[in-house]
Amino acid sequence: MKLSIIASLGRNNEIGKENRLLCYLPADLKHFRKITLGHSIIMGRKTFDSLPNGILPDRENIIISRNGSLAIKNARVYTSLDFALSKLMNEEEVFIIGGAQIYQQTLPIVNNLYLTKVYATFPEADVFFPLINYSEWHETEQEKIPANTKNPYPISFTKYERLQ
Ligand SMILES: NC(=O)c1ccc[n+]([C@@H]2O[C@H](COP(=O)([O-])OP(=O)(O)OC[C@H]3O[C@@H](n4cnc5c(N)ncnc54)[C@H](OP(=O)(O)O)[C@@H]3O)[C@@H](O)[C@H]2O)c1
Repeated sequence: MKLSIIASLGRNNEIGKENRLLCYLPADLKHFRKITLGHSIIMGRKTFDSLPNGILPDRENIIISRNGSLAIKNARVYTSLDFALSKLMNEEEVFIIGGAQIYQQTLPIVNNLYLTKVYATFPEADVFFPLINYSEWHETEQEKIPANTKNPYPISFTKYERLQ
């Protein structure tokens, strides 16, 4: 099983504020859907709470919470990240979709990073992606998208694979 992180980062590695995303970027949401569709996605309970329409369709939604009595319709809830991963060992690629706490705990073990870099700063941010040591990563793909009427900031989609 390949384990991958997918995240959108501002220039200062900021990823959210008040349990919401920093900005609305339809191009990034489309990219996120394309990459994750059909796969299992793992998220922290707070990220689940932040989703405007609840679970994300056409993906196996796995929510990590220390609350052993939490039950969410059409999702699997696990109290341990390791246990969740052990259940997914036979899958081809599994995505960690946030938030900051879950990225922090999985950055040391993931094989791939799919990072959307948003070329803007968000001083009001209150959650951040963990520090990335880029010397451990090899950039394999990059696509730049200029700002347009629907997407207020330029962005790039970059994939990194961990160097062996
Ligand atoms: N820009 C992006 O790409 C992106 C992506 C995703 C999320 N976000 C943003 O990130 C923010 C949320 O991130 P966050 O760090 O506050 O929360 P989070 O990582 O989404 O969720 C944290 C929760 O996960 C559970 N948890 C964490 N570690 C655990 C462990 N080892 N075992 C069991 N349960 C564990 C706990 O749930 P309980 O409290 O229920 O025990 C904890 O409160 C929001 O602003 C969201 O919009 C941004």
